Amino acid sequence: MRVAIGVAGGIAAYKAAELVRVLQERELDVQVVMTRAAREFVTPLTFAALSGHKVITEMFGGPGAEPNLESAIEHIAVAQAIDALVIAPATANVLAKIAHGEADDFLTTLCLATKAPIVLAPAMNINMWENSATQENLKTLRERGFRIVEPGEGHLACGMTGPGRLAEVEDIARAIFDVLELKNDLAGETVLVTAGPTEEPLDAVRFLSNRSSGRMGYALAKASRDRGARVILVSGPAAIEPPAGVTLERVGTAEEMARAVFHHLDASTIVLMAAAVADFRPAEVRSQKIKKQTVARSLELVPTIDILAEVSRRRRGQLLVGFAAETENLMENARAKLEAKGLDLVVANDLTEAGAGFGSETNIVTLVFPGGRAEKLEKMDKLDAARRILDEVVRMKKLPSPAMSTSWARGESR
Ligand SMILES: Cc1cc2nc3c(=O)[nH]c(=O)nc-3n(C[C@H](O)[C@H](O)[C@H](O)COP(=O)(O)O)c2cc1C
Repeated sequence: MRVAIGVAGGIAAYKAAELVRVLQERELDVQVVMTRAAREFVTPLTFAALSGHKVITEMFGGPGAEPNLESAIEHIAVAQAIDALVIAPATANVLAKIAHGEADDFLTTLCLATKAPIVLAPAMNINMWENSATQENLKTLRERGFRIVEPGEGHLACGMTGPGRLAEVEDIARAIFDVLELKNDLAGETVLVTAGPTEEPLDAVRFLSNRSSGRMGYALAKASRDRGARVILVSGPAAIEPPAGVTLERVGTAEEMARAVFHHLDASTIVLMAAAVADFRPAEVRSQKIKKQTVARSLELVPTIDILAEVSRRRRGQLLVGFAAETENLMENARAKLEAKGLDLVVANDLTEAGAGFGSETNIVTLVFPGGRAEKLEKMDKLDAARRILDEVVRMKKLPSPAMSTSWARGESR
């Protein structure tokens, strides 16, 4: 999605740099537009470097520039390309111009030319804010459907104290996510996701592993990030690109995955354990490659650590979701896992179904809830499945589930 950030000429113009970063973390493509006055406060170079796009500053290509067709229709092209426009800071002057339909520079022309929702974050001196002209302009703008992010109170750059400070960047971002209809219901949560297979070495070159691609876990990480969560992704070897903006920790064996998960557990509020962790490993690991002539007839295996069971035992109120990938007796195994490990939710999938399980771009999952209720979802893209799983997580965060009440009864905090 594309968002244009209009920066007008106020002291708070520098805070728009932080807004660019916050929007980019949500993978929004940001185009910055600056008024002439704004350039007295911050250079376009700052925003160009941050956004990765040339900053638009002039309607006619700037003083002395040869007008060309490209710049002549740029305001229309931008107006049509964006999904939202935010002006932060919005000066008293910009508010007045927009309220009266003026279009004497690129930013105000863009406001008239776009059909995208517009968010205004005013910032100014207290007297300018309280002036009835400004208040009447704001009233007009509210009535016309502009989304106003009210300024905060506090010490202003002019030395006075009162309303007029630019709202917090997170509040402005939330208003943008809102108008873009992006969910932000995991803001403030830290989601720990495990993904991919593990590799259990046999000798210097060989290992035991499984066919997990990591796609489901990576989709959960991406979907959690998109809903405002801080995400820690602990991944076994996977050949897919990790989502931007998540903390990635790569591991090899089940033992390494366990260490990484326990390390991050206390800082997490939601744990989604989608990795296909090896259940067993070779009892002995040879430091040299085993030669064909010396190979044993059988391979001794020992169980690996049960990370999910251990997380369930160690957790201090985190919401815990397990995954069950099976080739037979799916529901029986999923319900047994949920009960035995005291989980809040099990996501079960039948590896034998076409379009489900390892390697596939899609998945067919059944959500199994405490008490045994199950809901089978239709075949869908793994990212959509991740979003549905998170819908349940958010719902459970609000409504204590039986598993949560049990942990409360044990005196643990959630
Ligand atoms: C140092 C300084 C700080 C200013 N800060 C603000 C401000 O925070 N809010 C505001 O509405 N105007 C502020 N102004 C006045 C605007 O820069 C002025 O009204 C300008 O015409 C706005 O142009 P623009 O709305 O096209 O960006 C400030 C002016 C100066 C010299």
